[in-house]
Amino acid sequence: MAGNDHRHVITVSGSAALAKMAAERILARIAANHDRLAICLTGGSSPKQLYQLLATEPYRSRIPWPRVHWFIGDERFVGPDDPRNNMTMARRAFLDACAPAANIHPIPTEGVNPDEAARRYELILQSFYGADRLDPGKPLFDVVLMGVGPDGHTASLFPLYPAIAETGRWVVGVAEAHVEPFVPRVTLTLPALASCREMLFEVAGSEKRAILTRVLAGENLPANQARSAGETFWLVDEAALPENFRGQ
Ligand code: 6PG
Repeated sequence: MAGNDHRHVITVSGSAALAKMAAERILARIAANHDRLAICLTGGSSPKQLYQLLATEPYRSRIPWPRVHWFIGDERFVGPDDPRNNMTMARRAFLDACAPAANIHPIPTEGVNPDEAARRYELILQSFYGADRLDPGKPLFDVVLMGVGPDGHTASLFPLYPAIAETGRWVVGVAEAHVEPFVPRVTLTLPALASCREMLFEVAGSEKRAILTRVLAGENLPANQARSAGETFWLVDEAALPENFRGQ
């Protein structure tokens, strides 16, 4: 299905097919880069099936684990033992079983406040990237995974919050979340997330239909403002698709 001017919308049937399609897209990006790779993961429930799939064959053997680095696009400000921690969810689903520990880059949430954690993560990203300014010709990430919340947020960029307008910083603290869990967050900003070869949204389940209707209508929501400097794909499960988009 054709998307609007900045994204490709791909429809699949069911969450298993969605995870498979996302895994194939990630594998294609990995195959296209013979150097060190960076993948920015997302939290929430949508990517869990994909993460579990990456730890199973045939995907696991197709990933050159030693040269793939894993970052996280946003973090709930809870400790690493808390299952609500986004990177902890990803670690349990696949990273701990597959990736070298040195290639897993969590946002620190202990012994710092969200602003300090954001500053530290920004330095981690800049040191990995080798510069403190983003070069449009050199994407920070190969793939950025994203989800969309019921209010149109993505990562921890909530509608009308100042973080959405940030143009200089790569990572910022967010004092209060707009949705559950109501804990402070740390989030990458739009320019940092945009610095990628491919941004990949996963949207599944009928409970996403209302927000997807607003997104596809082009409403000014964080999920619509988030786009890759390269390509942006929205992988959508049919159950989440608004009536008027079905069969297109
Ligand atoms: C988080 C996220 C957030 C998430 C959306 C969708 O920390 O909650 O990174 O942006 O992707 O809220 O969440 P679900 O996949 O659970 O619907």
